[in-house]
Amino acid sequence: MPRDVIYLDHNATTPVDPRVLEVMLPYFTEKFGNAASIDHDYGHEAKQAVDQAREQIAAVINARPDEIIFTSGATESDNIALFGVAEKYAKKGDHIITCVTEHKAILDACQRLETMGKSVTYLPVDHFGRVDPDAVRRAITPRTILISMMAANNEIGTLAPLAEIGRIAAEHDILFHTDAAQAVGHIPIDVRAMNIHILSISAHKIYGPKGMGALYRRRSLPRVQLEPVIYGGGHERGLRSGTLNTPGIVGFGESLRLAKKEMTKDAARFRGWTQQIYERLQVELGEVLLNGHPTERLPHNLNVSLPGVESKALIVKLKGVALSAGSACTSAKVEPSHVIQALGFGDDRAHSAIRISVGRFNNDAQIASAIDQIGMAVRNLQTMRVV
Ligand SMILES: Cc1ncc(COP(=O)(O)O)c(C=O)c1O
Repeated sequence: MPRDVIYLDHNATTPVDPRVLEVMLPYFTEKFGNAASIDHDYGHEAKQAVDQAREQIAAVINARPDEIIFTSGATESDNIALFGVAEKYAKKGDHIITCVTEHKAILDACQRLETMGKSVTYLPVDHFGRVDPDAVRRAITPRTILISMMAANNEIGTLAPLAEIGRIAAEHDILFHTDAAQAVGHIPIDVRAMNIHILSISAHKIYGPKGMGALYRRRSLPRVQLEPVIYGGGHERGLRSGTLNTPGIVGFGESLRLAKKEMTKDAARFRGWTQQIYERLQVELGEVLLNGHPTERLPHNLNVSLPGVESKALIVKLKGVALSAGSACTSAKVEPSHVIQALGFGDDRAHSAIRISVGRFNNDAQIASAIDQIGMAVRNLQTMRVV
């Protein structure tokens, strides 16, 4: 990828922060020990590094270190949460409540659970992409064992009313899982204050390495039980067997240590940029429709529909800016985004939606240039259509 392409797709993935890479490197070479083989110093060294990362990750969400299970990413964490609860609590019930705008990691796993005889309620969202907590309450049945609601949407950035849903789950003695892949490290999350029992995290969304994630699983009040999805050597309290990826874990820990320290400052900068892009596009292009909630949204995400502009065509035209039409995670299919469709504005709104997500290594000049380039590409497409 040429260096002069401005990267504005941080909801898809982020570059590894050089400070993160620096702490990871020794764990590939001289500090290569197996964290489970602690009969010698090599193993001890690795275990200490893993323990430290566990503390760093727990600290960001107000969890205990022994409540953090390392996984290969949020997809795996989501799968352990859903299948793990469905199997372990099968005697208590078989009903799960989730939402239509979830990531495919949740939706496809839920579909699979349905083929296994479980029942799933997919709640709708309003025009801003928000689930109504009262609808969650109404969907609860005596058979409900789990509510799974994403913390922040990966396409439109809308934040869920986590504390309210957590309160409802606690009142009904139902477990509450949240896919927080886009939220942890970007906005404050407190699993105790929000009554979250299970939570999925991904490292590559917060300047950590790809293929690395974690599952928070509460160990008291209530003690959450999960059936493993992977069996083997009993690593991670039996919940996720397999030799630990020490360099990845160390990088993950450092990325969240940095996020905790820099979150407020970064968020303010990101909010300024996304607001600036939105306002300037409105001035330059006239009709620009915001997808997602105007205030309850991720600071680094902006999703807008440009009426009459086919977003796939725009992306092809935009040679100097990397951004996404709809969700990058499902872009192999040229289907309108299920998230934008769920907002209830019709297919055109989904076909003309672009997602712009800014990040730590962008600068003011890049943002200004990206706005110019988007404006020019849109005008270009509009001219082509008139002719
Ligand atoms: C909300 C959400 N959940 C899950 C995932 C999957 O995460 P991972 O790539 O770590 O498996 C993503 C990222 O693509 C996401 O945005």
